[in-house]
Amino acid sequence: MKPKLGVCYYPEHWPEAMWADDAARMVETGISWVRIGEFAWSRMEPVPGDLRFDWLDHAVDTLGAAGLKVVMGTPTATPPRWMLEKHPDMLAVDANGNARKFGSRRHYCFSHPGYLQESVRIARIMGERYGRNPHVAAWQIDNEYGCHDTTISYSTAALTAFRGWLKDRYGSIDALNEAWGNIFWAMEYGDFDQIDLPNRTVTEPNPAHVLAFRRFSSDQVVAYNKAQVDALRTLTDAPLLHNYMGRVLDFDHFKVGEDLDIATWDSYPIGFLSDRLEADEDHKTAFLQQGDPDMQAFHHDLYRAVGRGRWWVMEQQPGPVNWAPYNPAPLPGMVQLWSLEAVAHGAEVVSYFRWRQAPFAQEQMHAGLLTPNNSPAPALTEVKQTADELSKLGGIVQVQAQVAIVFDYDSDWAWATQPQGAGFDYFRLIFSAYRALRCAGLSVDFISPVSLPCNGYKFILAPGLATLGGDLERRLRDSCELVVLGPRSGAITSDFQIQNPRPGLRGLNCNVDLVETLPPNIQREVEGGGAARHWIDRVSGSAPNLLRFRDGTPTLSGDDGLWYLAGFPDDTLWDRIVEMAARETDVALHPMPMGLRRRETATHVFLINYNAQPVVWNGDVIDSCSVAVTQKDAPEEE
Ligand code: GAL
Repeated sequence: MKPKLGVCYYPEHWPEAMWADDAARMVETGISWVRIGEFAWSRMEPVPGDLRFDWLDHAVDTLGAAGLKVVMGTPTATPPRWMLEKHPDMLAVDANGNARKFGSRRHYCFSHPGYLQESVRIARIMGERYGRNPHVAAWQIDNEYGCHDTTISYSTAALTAFRGWLKDRYGSIDALNEAWGNIFWAMEYGDFDQIDLPNRTVTEPNPAHVLAFRRFSSDQVVAYNKAQVDALRTLTDAPLLHNYMGRVLDFDHFKVGEDLDIATWDSYPIGFLSDRLEADEDHKTAFLQQGDPDMQAFHHDLYRAVGRGRWWVMEQQPGPVNWAPYNPAPLPGMVQLWSLEAVAHGAEVVSYFRWRQAPFAQEQMHAGLLTPNNSPAPALTEVKQTADELSKLGGIVQVQAQVAIVFDYDSDWAWATQPQGAGFDYFRLIFSAYRALRCAGLSVDFISPVSLPCNGYKFILAPGLATLGGDLERRLRDSCELVVLGPRSGAITSDFQIQNPRPGLRGLNCNVDLVETLPPNIQREVEGGGAARHWIDRVSGSAPNLLRFRDGTPTLSGDDGLWYLAGFPDDTLWDRIVEMAARETDVALHPMPMGLRRRETATHVFLINYNAQPVVWNGDVIDSCSVAVTQKDAPEEE
């Protein structure tokens, strides 16, 4: 596969006279794809039913004539103002019961049937117009589901739909009462129509109620996306995709991904470092202008799984963004590094956000490849260099990694519903496991529980996997030589009741007698090095202890093919566990210095240096903010 570059473009922001020149400059820069349309509804349909597509026809023709392939976006993330007159109750409602307002974007509730119909209508109109257009080579549906906290809505439409969802799931109200344990605090219902949404309760609502609502809310995103997919499928053969965000876990991306052909995501490394990653100040300072060395790769690997192997970066940060608390510029080399790193992880396209910085409105301080007055911004040269690098690279062939992590959105909702300790966060736990594997120089795959069993892994980490119901434990064991469960894995049933004994531990003849959670300044030291924090499972039983806390209680217990980890590891403890698992399953490690990462494909080895200084590794010097690529003796590309 030969990766390509792309760019996000807003023809409606610029005079038509500029379009042809823009298109020619894109091609000169080495760009082959251009995404348009996703926020332009008010120009496509300025008043209800008055369709104005001439300008978009002209934009598609102009871009296409220059040799660019167009990704057409459905504009449903920005319903125009008149939509509210037609559907005054279409706005999402926050947990306090207040409707969110017009004046930015994503102002709709996924459960509103009227808005769903409007979305399908505009998708169909666009599909009829551009579905067979030779320049339109892919479709993006909506924009960043869930961004700005928009998955969950406490609207009347959501309430009606939730009751229907519960009826389908539980069949009878008695079954629901039983499954949720509603005898507690006399919360029993006599009818599905008595059930409310779990907000504004006096104290916490029943976690089973909240988890059901979280699952329902995710299903509403899946259904909303599917409705647009169904509208477009018959009208085009071009692939359908969506652009997901970083660290948004409120809906099941795997389920949305099943209906799409390609997963894409929006990568803002420097924004994410300050905005959505827990790390100490030294780390944030060292990588201030580069981004965290694992955050991008984490999402590349996750969305590769969501896209069943097919994925892109749809929006790549090109310079300072406008939305993080502080917005430093990338160090020279970083735009190219991020692009090559994405390609190393299998991106088919890396597309930059945006072509030219807008001089108006919310994102006027957000860099593009060009400045508002049309001169080159620093990233433009790096994009051109990246295009040259890619043309020299040759096809990159991906290969299954030796190790994998199970990623389960449902577990995040469960633990966010009842964290028990403020530090226990699913993303943080999984990210720390991922970082440990990467510090050991390993390439990593993510797998969703429903895709198990998958053949051929050496070892799989499944920390915090809330429910191990059905035959999931067996499917995990069938996928690899060694499964590492815990902490908290298998702790609840799918209806949020304690599962005791826990499925994974049952196989080891062990039990969790007690759990405790710890404040951030306290940790439990492990004999020989490392510690557990946030969460401790007190395990007893007959399985051999592979590691112990200083008080003699088990940290890691295990037998052939199954280990249970009884706490949330710090970095040192994760490193030890990865080393032990690698030794047990004959996986070769390549320990990495700080800020250097390694990605191996069937054809290439990539060494990615996020540091602001050169790094020496295995005798080679890797320049600061750069990627060193070695071509292996490549098998023929199919
Ligand atoms: C993304 C979004 C874009 C733009 C960008 C700015 O989240 O999809 O439309 O807002 O952020 O960084």
